[in-house]
Amino acid sequence: MSQGIKNTLIIGLGLIGGSLAKVLRQNRCCGQIIGFDRDPEETKLGLSSGVIDVAADSLADAVSQADIIVLAVPVKAMEKVLVDIAPFIAEETLITDVGSTKANVVEAAKRVFDQVPSGFVPGHPIAGSEKSGVAAADEHLFEQHKIILTPLAESSSYAVKVFTEMWASTGAEVLIMDVEKHDEVLAATSHLPHMLAFSLVDTLAQEQGNNTDIFRYAAGGFRDFTRIAGSDPTMWHDICLANRDALLAQLDRYTSGLAKLRAAIECGDSETMLGTFTRARAAREHFSRILSGTAYSQDMSNQLVTFRAQPGGSVSGKIRVPGDKSISHRSIMLGSLADGVTEVTGFLEGEDSLATLQAFRDMGVVIEGPDDGNVTIYGVGVNGLSAPPGPLYVGNSGTSMRLLSGLLAAQQFDSELTGDASLTKRPMGRVADPLRLMGAEIETAENGRPPMKIKGGQALKGIHYDMPMASAQVKSCLLLAGLYAEGETSVTEPAPTRDHTERMLTGFGYPVEQNGSKAAVKSGGQLHATRIDVPADISSATFFLVAAAIAPGSDLTLEHVGINPTRVGIINILRLMGANLELLNEREVGGEPVADIRIRYAPLKGIHIPEDQVPLAIDEFPALFIAAACAEGTTIVSGAEELRVKESDRIQSMVDGLKALGVDIEGTPDGAIIQGGEIGGGVVESHDDHRIAMSFCVAALRATGEITITDCANVATSFPGFVELAQTAGIKVEKEEG
Ligand code: S3P
Repeated sequence: MSQGIKNTLIIGLGLIGGSLAKVLRQNRCCGQIIGFDRDPEETKLGLSSGVIDVAADSLADAVSQADIIVLAVPVKAMEKVLVDIAPFIAEETLITDVGSTKANVVEAAKRVFDQVPSGFVPGHPIAGSEKSGVAAADEHLFEQHKIILTPLAESSSYAVKVFTEMWASTGAEVLIMDVEKHDEVLAATSHLPHMLAFSLVDTLAQEQGNNTDIFRYAAGGFRDFTRIAGSDPTMWHDICLANRDALLAQLDRYTSGLAKLRAAIECGDSETMLGTFTRARAAREHFSRILSGTAYSQDMSNQLVTFRAQPGGSVSGKIRVPGDKSISHRSIMLGSLADGVTEVTGFLEGEDSLATLQAFRDMGVVIEGPDDGNVTIYGVGVNGLSAPPGPLYVGNSGTSMRLLSGLLAAQQFDSELTGDASLTKRPMGRVADPLRLMGAEIETAENGRPPMKIKGGQALKGIHYDMPMASAQVKSCLLLAGLYAEGETSVTEPAPTRDHTERMLTGFGYPVEQNGSKAAVKSGGQLHATRIDVPADISSATFFLVAAAIAPGSDLTLEHVGINPTRVGIINILRLMGANLELLNEREVGGEPVADIRIRYAPLKGIHIPEDQVPLAIDEFPALFIAAACAEGTTIVSGAEELRVKESDRIQSMVDGLKALGVDIEGTPDGAIIQGGEIGGGVVESHDDHRIAMSFCVAALRATGEITITDCANVATSFPGFVELAQTAGIKVEKEEG
């Protein structure tokens, strides 16, 4: 804090003024604390209870001595106080206030001072309680609360800095906003709920005859909802007048929302009722998670997760891994665009697919679940999505962002896609560029990174796109955009990639023309709701396939695994390395081939992994590197440069991790050369990449010492319950949180 602050004057020793005085007096951050209240008894009490250092007898003297003045009086009294103190304010004095509306305070200041002084920075601590008066002063009141400063064009940066430091010293988080924005935000988040609480209690209290019963039997909901109706009536009267226009706008929006709900109740419109309730519940959870930086599932609630895997052991028994991530994403997307109700079973309740689910809820789709893998989607039709209330946050999920960008580019509304730190580093130019060729208007951050800002209302035109890289995400993005683009949209891939989008579109009754490496759609069709049984994810099964393949004595069966030909690279590669692997009970479920996979230990040998298998096993390489480290001889991975742009640079992450365990491995631009041999113990960084974390966990089966893997929270993106299932199978791993 600036050395120059000797005296801070707090005018108004109510709850806010008193609490601020008390904490500033204790932390000695703003010099001597002088207090003044228009009620001399309150000032006296402030002094005797240690809230202030000095009680001001004369406001004029106190003002002329003050380096900082804090106006902690009701908003309506602000102008009068400014008039009283204006003649005594020194030129360099810094002034702030704590009023809950800002435009009116600024107006008052303009009327009092011809020109608002540069030392004046309006402020608003978002803290309080139903208590009032200096006796309620609480030095902890502002801790972990927000304080909004609304500097004016004429405010000096020095003044902003001093007030930022002053509030930060109270334990508050300081935010800067402009005056209008502040009043709008507060009208919605504070003033409107107070109006509702006051009005509800008043309405019920006036009910003829049975109002005592209403209050007697009112349970928690009523109490929770109406707690704020106990607030100070005069203060709220003043706030209503001070923030009239913004509050009226919010009241109108609310009233029309309530009218819609009323109509739905009246005519038994379950979809609208359920829609309102599920959206509201999900939105509340969603926003609190975004704000607290936590995530959709329990597993992610604790961000610091470490895996400790003990050496040795084998895997055996029968297990089923969670649902396929790619199919889960697409089930939500296509189910939402369909006409009718789509029922999904086996849905992956991982962070990534939940991010897609939330995005569609944000666009107005009613989705029930997930509940034990069951999801019900009330499709809105190809043209039925509505504008989301804010940016669509898709966490760690590249699939959500890339596929959604294709859909959003064709909508009538503007949208923005954002993600977590890892996703924000990943390339989106690969989808933005071809979408722009179709006529989309998309802005990305530098080098084509997220966020993606997508302009609505563009008429897209079908194109033919020759993909420069083998990417199912790019292909799917363009096919989804193609549902809306004039004419035909076609994509050719340089090597086969997963074809779930094509299969599932067909399953929803939308024609897709496939001709060798080319897939094409025409716009104007409809999707018809269907049932989707999501098979277990072969990419998740991979960790256990590799576990059994490297650990002597293993005999494991993985049930109901999707073995779509565009995903079976792992089976082909492990077989080439000598794995003893059988496909049992092969069948087709909802358009996708499925089998149980039995794998028994057999010694592996190093191979040069055929490049045509790379896209068919693209997510399986971290685990394959572990298999290679346990194989006899050299394994060469090439043609796999795509691994460098996954959730982490997977070539580098695996090279670093295996080297830390003493493995002889060398990275190349498009792969690695791995010598099979002994794996030691050690500490490995997962680089926040789920598949890196799980792979090193499996490596412990053949390690000579404990393997500690850091930052494993993201395992919940694709494989909730991984540690528990790994333990069941025989891997000696423990999860540490916190
Ligand atoms: C996916 C495609 C693959 C894969 C990702 C899921 C999909 O990415 O790595 O985990 O669901 O389409 P690319 O298409 O970028 O290779």
